Amino acid sequence: MTTNPPSTSPAVVRLTQYSTAELREIAGDDDDPFGVSGAGLTWLPKQEHFGIRRDGRLVAHTGLVTLPLAVGEAETEVVGFGGVVVAPELRGHGLARLVVTAALEHARTTGPQYGLLFCRPHLLALYQRLGWRTLEEDVHVEQPDGPALMPLRTMWIPLRDGVHWPSGPVRLRSLPM
Ligand SMILES: CC(C)(COP(=O)(O)OP(=O)(O)OC[C@H]1O[C@@H](n2cnc3c(N)ncnc32)[C@H](O)[C@@H]1OP(=O)(O)O)[C@@H](O)C(=O)NCCC(=O)NCCS
Repeated sequence: MTTNPPSTSPAVVRLTQYSTAELREIAGDDDDPFGVSGAGLTWLPKQEHFGIRRDGRLVAHTGLVTLPLAVGEAETEVVGFGGVVVAPELRGHGLARLVVTAALEHARTTGPQYGLLFCRPHLLALYQRLGWRTLEEDVHVEQPDGPALMPLRTMWIPLRDGVHWPSGPVRLRSLPM
């Protein structure tokens, strides 16, 4: 069955609830919708959720969570972006752009200077098109048995004008999002 792409830009809404059921509504029964289970990481749930509904069904999501981060000697906070997913049959029609951009607009109002996300290497180009920058430094994140090197790629985006990424080793003082 083919699915017609959305004919007009759908609205992004704040979701009051986002659990495994909502993820399945978007991604179906895929038991590894983000393709990261091989990394063996423990992930943090997000605090705020943005979604797109089509004919009543949730078809896209981005989650946000504010987290402490150390870069060199500096202690700061980032808005972590995660759980970016679009229904398989609706990919390639700009829904990720819409939902990530709406989440970004919200993130800019929350205080931290940086957005941060982790992704597989083949998605770097996608996020670059949305304004994200690749971080070349190694990034350590918390895991249940202590700090671990993040095996995925890390990207950041300024949430205010004139913001620069500080130099030095990067350590997320939390489980990754
Ligand atoms: C990754 C994902 C969310 C993209 O959703 P999508 O709705 O197809 O993305 P969009 O159509 O909004 O594309 C956004 C932009 O990235 C570009 N793009 C899309 N896929 C791309 C790819 N694989 N490589 C490079 N650029 C890509 C698009 O051309 C578009 O750019 P433009 O708006 O300037 O034309 C979707 O494929 C998905 O759900 N994948 C499985 C879950 C996952 O891996 N999530 C990422 C977690 S970090």
